Amino acid sequence: MNLVFLGPPGAGKGTIATLAKDRLGILHISTGDLFREAINTGTPLGIKVKAILASGELVPDSVTIDMVNERLEKKDTAKGFILDGFPRTIAQADALNEMKTIDHVINFELDRDTIVLRLSGRRMCKSTGRIYHVMYNPPKVEGIDDETGETLIQRPDDKEEAIVNRLAVYERQTAPLIQYYREKGLLRDIDAAGAPDRVLEAMLKVL
Ligand code: AP5
Repeated sequence: MNLVFLGPPGAGKGTIATLAKDRLGILHISTGDLFREAINTGTPLGIKVKAILASGELVPDSVTIDMVNERLEKKDTAKGFILDGFPRTIAQADALNEMKTIDHVINFELDRDTIVLRLSGRRMCKSTGRIYHVMYNPPKVEGIDDETGETLIQRPDDKEEAIVNRLAVYERQTAPLIQYYREKGLLRDIDAAGAPDRVLEAMLKVL
């Protein structure tokens, strides 16, 4: 099964994808994680996109499409995948049509106040990408990753100024995909406000 997770920043796409990939036995491919990995390892791609991610703007379509195309060409995608954070523009969606068949597009719906609460309280393990929240999903020891023992970080784009910009970018460039996929009969709306296990179950029911 090939899924696209669509929704505003902080709606819980990464959290639910981490749970759903095990339940469904498919891959989780996050373009945000791929970019952050490139930044952490200092590749030419990482150097190119570092400032773009910190500001909350989108990486140019050509760069993103090439990266995703390369990832989807790998054999392991044959068992199915969740694309988390791609496509984010109409041009990316058109390009995806040429790469793979998508079975469902999950549209995570969440109000703005909850989005801001979730993003401002998010903490992350830099090396593994494991996600926490200071209130909703705290680590066992404050500020420390449960498994690696590393100090948790706040993503640069989870600072207030970048959050405001990311929400504006989402409305302008990504929200039009809701209508795009609705017209194709692929869109499945999900209320993302509940606890993660409830959101997961609601999604599995829809699938
Ligand atoms: P990306 O990493 O994709 O960021 P995003 O879409 O803004 O999504 P987030 O990771 O912020 O949120 P999420 O929905 O995954 O929420 P999460 O589960 O973490 O992209 C980052 C950047 O990369 C972009 O700004 C852009 O620059 C670039 N980029 C990426 N893809 C691109 C593309 N296709 N084209 C161009 N540029 C691209 O949850 C958030 C918090 O809430 C966590 O703390 C979590 O613990 C908590 N939480 C989650 N679910 C729940 C719940 N149900 N109840 C309570 N708390 C919850």
